[in-house]
Amino acid sequence: MFLCSGRMIQVLVLTLSAVASVWGSPLSQERFQITTFGAERRARWSLEGKTAVVTGGTKGIGKAIVEELACLGAKVITCSRNPADVAACLEEWKSKGLLVEGTAADVTTAEGRESLVKLAEEHFGGLLDILVNNVGTNIRKATVDYTPEELAYVMDTNFTSLFLLTKLLHPLLKAAAAVKGSRENGGSSVINISSVAGITPIKSGSPYAASKAAMNQVTRLWGCEWAPDGIRVNAVAPWYTKTPLTEPVQADPVRVNEITQRTPMKRWADADEVSGMVAFLCMKGAGYITSQVIATDGGFTANGWMT
Ligand SMILES: NC(=O)c1ccc[n+]([C@@H]2O[C@H](COP(=O)([O-])OP(=O)(O)OC[C@H]3O[C@@H](n4cnc5c(N)ncnc54)[C@H](OP(=O)(O)O)[C@@H]3O)[C@@H](O)[C@H]2O)c1
Repeated sequence: MFLCSGRMIQVLVLTLSAVASVWGSPLSQERFQITTFGAERRARWSLEGKTAVVTGGTKGIGKAIVEELACLGAKVITCSRNPADVAACLEEWKSKGLLVEGTAADVTTAEGRESLVKLAEEHFGGLLDILVNNVGTNIRKATVDYTPEELAYVMDTNFTSLFLLTKLLHPLLKAAAAVKGSRENGGSSVINISSVAGITPIKSGSPYAASKAAMNQVTRLWGCEWAPDGIRVNAVAPWYTKTPLTEPVQADPVRVNEITQRTPMKRWADADEVSGMVAFLCMKGAGYITSQVIATDGGFTANGWMT
């Protein structure tokens, strides 16, 4: 027993002296500095404390974006037109510990946009770091078959609402970018969810393509116009992604196969492959990226006649 205790004391002394020599060594100091440096670099990949508005967050890509931003530390406000869906999502996010608030609002109406802005003002004290314009819709048919009402519906939902909501929220984005340290941390960000249909002709209908092309051009223009305000503006352009919006296409095996075969990666995207790019663009790590339209498309827009 005595021998055993002596051995234990010996081991303890050796361990303590080894620890003391490591801590006293310049190498341990260096390790400490690397750790601090590493923590600073890791902070570039966080959205801790940022405030975000994401439109159309109850389904598909918008829901993935809400969850991505909230999991990375942002406080998020979202909306959709269906009060029951908003309530169910808020309950789900609350149970997961995500900081998300929401309201039933139609962003194609002035009242809907104003209620979203009011909520952001109330919860975020007038400071908005991130706006994700995600709401979008489509009617797929031949150009000659569109009615004026259908054209207006697609343009209002995909483009006009984005233009008017971003205009309303610009003062909050500018105010957040003016807070000390914000610009060094990437500044404020507007992310527009576009489509490859706005880049190159695809079989998704001409009003949709026109609405997304318009979105791409205001993205480029606003990025330049608002750079002095500390606001970066970028667009993410997905190719076919599995969401409720593409359910009619998913139900057609011939179209699914055609789309898959034309995609170099030979598959559709998951919504969280779009939300990952959105989160990146909001971070300090993307602090010098503005006025860009970035495709999340499995190589589709680069493909000429390779696959
Ligand atoms: N899925 C794809 O393959 C794909 C490809 C390229 C681009 N995109 C773009 O990605 C974005 C999201 O598409 P998604 O596929 O995720 O669509 P989705 O599955 O139809 O989801 C759209 C979301 O927006 C909400 N919403 C629609 N209209 C609204 C309005 N006027 N006001 C408020 N909320 C509204 C919807 O809820 P309620 O209907 O209940 O309002 C829902 O939460 C769109 O801009 C779309 O054009 C999608």
